[in-house]
Amino acid sequence: ESSGILSGKRFLVSAGPTYEAIDPVRFVGNYSSGKMGFAIAEELASRGALVDLVCGPVSLKTKNPNINRIDVHSALEMHRECLAHFQGADGAVMSAAVSDYRPAKAEEQKIKRSGDELVLKLVPNPDIAADLGRIKKPGQILAGFALETNDEEANARKKLDSKNLDFIVLNSLAEQGAGFMVDTNRITIIGRDQVIDDLPLKSKVELAADIVNYIERLLIHPQG
Ligand code: C5P
Repeated sequence: ESSGILSGKRFLVSAGPTYEAIDPVRFVGNYSSGKMGFAIAEELASRGALVDLVCGPVSLKTKNPNINRIDVHSALEMHRECLAHFQGADGAVMSAAVSDYRPAKAEEQKIKRSGDELVLKLVPNPDIAADLGRIKKPGQILAGFALETNDEEANARKKLDSKNLDFIVLNSLAEQGAGFMVDTNRITIIGRDQVIDDLPLKSKVELAADIVNYIERLLIHPQG
């Protein structure tokens, strides 16, 4: 059912967790597997798009030769690569689980164990999606994800506005089989024109096709 409109278009996809160094052998991170973002990158590429996939540490492989994979560790590295690859892109899908904070200082030597308390000072990381939203040009599509536990739709809409996204994919955490580390997800696609697409529990690969269908729709009928 692909329209062919993605052929030759350039897309940036962020995926996976970020690891924020505490010292040479320890980090602050999260359980994101990167599966949703990798599925979106493969789906875009299978429809002819050229994809820059900026990913944190994940144990996944890319298959389609149209995917240019850029491996990073930290949020700051991901931020730099995403800003660089958004220039000249037709759109971006921000599916990475970026660590909100990083240690104020990464110790150069391994921290030694002692009987004392250890206080780790954290400083906020940049919001990559919001920064892309600020430099977004007319015609560029920017999509993000929201993982909410309460007032799901209202909070997702707030993020859509504050990050200047064109649509947001709301992950329902309440549901079994949805979220991190699993192959399935329950999502709702929320667009600017109030359009809501409430999708049933499906595999992440099937949901990637639904999300890319929505991108094709936006390329064919841009919103004002
Ligand atoms: O604000 P929140 O973290 O809930 O927003 C989630 C969305 O923003 C996701 O699309 C995520 O990839 C993106 N994000 C980002 N950089 C951050 C935090 C979130 O790109 N530092």
